[in-house]
Amino acid sequence: MNEQELNALTEQVKKLALEAGSFLTNERKKFDLNKVEQKRSHDYVSYVDKESEKMIVAQLHKLLPQAGFIAEESGTHMNGEPYCWVVDPLDGTTNFIHNNAPFCVSIGLRNKTEMLLGVVYECCRNELFWANKYSKAYLNGQEINVSRVCELNNAAIELGFTYDADRYRNFIVPIINRLYGNVATLRVLGSAAAEICYVAAGRFEARIEALIGPWDVAAASIILKQAGGLVSDFCGNESDLFYSGKETIVSNGLLHAAMLQTINNLKVEE
Ligand code: IPD
Repeated sequence: MNEQELNALTEQVKKLALEAGSFLTNERKKFDLNKVEQKRSHDYVSYVDKESEKMIVAQLHKLLPQAGFIAEESGTHMNGEPYCWVVDPLDGTTNFIHNNAPFCVSIGLRNKTEMLLGVVYECCRNELFWANKYSKAYLNGQEINVSRVCELNNAAIELGFTYDADRYRNFIVPIINRLYGNVATLRVLGSAAAEICYVAAGRFEARIEALIGPWDVAAASIILKQAGGLVSDFCGNESDLFYSGKETIVSNGLLHAAMLQTINNLKVEE
């Protein structure tokens, strides 16, 4: 796909993310907590996630019929296609059902070797983040860049708390112990896609989470990279194919080594 084609496609995806976001915002106004189901312990979903995904997948299929899908609610549908959409129709579901911010729509496109575009629409602040492999990264039309903070002591760090507490606890509790009191602040906002975009926009310096899905991180990762940031697994490997969410550390680049050092030998349970 050449630059012109990718730019045109990016514009269509931006429109679609805004449409899906307005569906989420409208549903939020009348949302009833009784309509929530649990996929696994503490992992929630509702008709809003499912309907949003149906609408997004149908439109994306029209835009690029030769693409497969990895989508949070309907799973992986790939049959050797040259492209793949990676979709989270509502990232921050727990925030959404409790009427908290942020929550967003996240749509990424990759080919067999790299991410091509990413669009994240954060509904609560009406913020549209996007980038493609030929562009810079943007927020509501303004170019964004990662921060230049280079000391952990001055850094605002985001932590993600995955649903699988049993496998995650022995990893994340020592990380909190190592960081708390040694960084400017620790925060947990509850939407991986939004938080990675916030690192891209210089609002945070780094973020750590493991055991999440590719739909949580794919779109935001290309936005972060085009804003000058780094994304890797916990060993520092940065492969365009690893957007699995299994181990994800993102940073402004300047603090990547220090964050990897913080993790040191800690492992997430297999
Ligand atoms: C969740 C959010 C949250 C993260 C969880 C994710 P969902 O995604 O991104 O920030 O900590 O691990 O599963 O379920 O709201 O799409």
